[in-house]
Amino acid sequence: METGDDAGVYQVADSLALVQTLDFITPIVDDPYDYGRIAAANSLSDVYAMGGKPVTAMNIVGFPQDSLPAEVLRDLLRGGLEKIEESGATLVGGHTVDDVEFKYGLSVTGVIDPHHVVRNVGARPGDRMVLTKPLGMGIITTANKRRKAPAELVRRAVEVMAALNRAASEVMVEVGAHAATDVTGFGLLGHALIMARGSGVGIAFQASAIPYLKGALELSVQNLIPGGSFRNREFVGEKAQVDPSIPEALAMIFFDAQTSGGLLIAVAPEKVEMLLERLRKSGVSTAAVIGRVIEGEPRLILEP
Ligand code: CO
Ligand code: CO
Repeated sequence: METGDDAGVYQVADSLALVQTLDFITPIVDDPYDYGRIAAANSLSDVYAMGGKPVTAMNIVGFPQDSLPAEVLRDLLRGGLEKIEESGATLVGGHTVDDVEFKYGLSVTGVIDPHHVVRNVGARPGDRMVLTKPLGMGIITTANKRRKAPAELVRRAVEVMAALNRAASEVMVEVGAHAATDVTGFGLLGHALIMARGSGVGIAFQASAIPYLKGALELSVQNLIPGGSFRNREFVGEKAQVDPSIPEALAMIFFDAQTSGGLLIAVAPEKVEMLLERLRKSGVSTAAVIGRVIEGEPRLILEP
């Protein structure tokens, strides 16, 4: 808990530990089935970020039963179940309460070999930083709520958010990583700063190498940015040196609060090619090397 890791790990035997997490979110898209898929993928992601394998999941739902028809709940849970099954886990129960604000997520229990837990700290100077999903989901969903995002872009963002980090996690464990976390509410740079602090290192990113959904930049230019992304920028503050040649709208994508984002992985330089090749072979096609770990006090450098 001291480093704010993605999930709790509890050792029950020599080679067996539980990985436990609970996460739920309010709707970020209109379609309940998509909302269910995204919220479930987001909840499962914290187990994947530790290198764990989800085994059981429970639904947690706050449902406004006076304002929404029962089929919304049915579609929501169908979307969630689809992702639970895709993860290989089993749905074993859950709890629903009447709530004025719709909420959905999962409590997930996974298993892991306690000797192979991938924490959000442990990055070493020289490591390469790999990101497995594109950024921009906070900006796109915010623009969508104001009916200003192109439908095709929203559709792509939904698929990115609904995608499990399963393959990314399995490949990461296979190849071996020094540290990992999933990019969610604190955005790429917020989560990176937490990793840098906990690891006692700096991280230098190359802006041009960081993947994002292309239409997100135009929306960022129009200032369609969630409040959480500005708070992330404040949180990181002086600890990030952003090269003045990087446009403000682009920089905000790197601070953008994500839902169900990709894994941010620190890996030894001699392993990075193998990691990328296996990620791509496993269908994680947008995985990219976006930076490197540097010596010195915890800070972030954003190079063009
Ligand atoms: Co997380
Ligand atoms: Co979480």
